[in-house]
Amino acid sequence: MAAKSIALITMSTRGARVGPTVADFVKKIIEPPLAADNISVASVDVVKFNLPVYNEAVAPAMVPDKASFQYAHSKAWSAEIARHDGYILVIPEYNHGMAGGTKNAIDYLMHEWKGKPAAIVSYGGRGGTTASEQVRNSLSSMGLRVAETRPSLSFNQPDVMAAVGTGKLGEATLKTWGEEKADGIRKTVEELRELLLQPNAEGNVAKP
Ligand SMILES: Cc1cc2nc3c(=O)[nH]c(=O)nc-3n(C[C@H](O)[C@H](O)[C@H](O)COP(=O)(O)O)c2cc1C
Repeated sequence: MAAKSIALITMSTRGARVGPTVADFVKKIIEPPLAADNISVASVDVVKFNLPVYNEAVAPAMVPDKASFQYAHSKAWSAEIARHDGYILVIPEYNHGMAGGTKNAIDYLMHEWKGKPAAIVSYGGRGGTTASEQVRNSLSSMGLRVAETRPSLSFNQPDVMAAVGTGKLGEATLKTWGEEKADGIRKTVEELRELLLQPNAEGNVAKP
């Protein structure tokens, strides 16, 4: 069994989306070096949790010590996040900011990942840098330790409309990313690995 587990989270939720393809691209790059360190990569997809806009009566900061979630979707998402030691969020950018689904999924959490390390990989027509900065702010303010390098992946111009309209990621874009972005992705994962090795000030550990 791997000693540590990293969740590679697809954060986009729309019907036709490139998110899973981007996450697969990232996974192929990061899995071999992490496996060599006995760290496993688990693919997690926010869409599978069917999270409505946050509808619990209590705030996640109160869970589990002072309150409990009432809905199955919150409990399932909370348990999934709690079982990992670190996270890589693969995020789209919508309207020059993080997507509503990304913020909503984050808003369901607190103690599940407080103090643990996270990396952010953004993508979009312009690479999703604004969304990446916003997610970094949210995660840092929740007490996660965010890797400094945040790769941003831009679609090749001819592939933009297919990505938006059909959720298909063009081969030319994947080729460019392989040539130009793989090093940045390896760098953020190396930073994540370093953070995993440092003590967690919150004393928060993965709950299998
Ligand atoms: C509602 C919406 C707004 C968008 N706004 C932006 C934007 O501001 N910047 C950008 O780079 N791409 C933007 N795009 C294009 C997305 O980057 C592209 O559709 C990408 O495929 C979204 O990821 P997804 O397919 O995983 O949802 C937008 C797409 C949608 C659906």
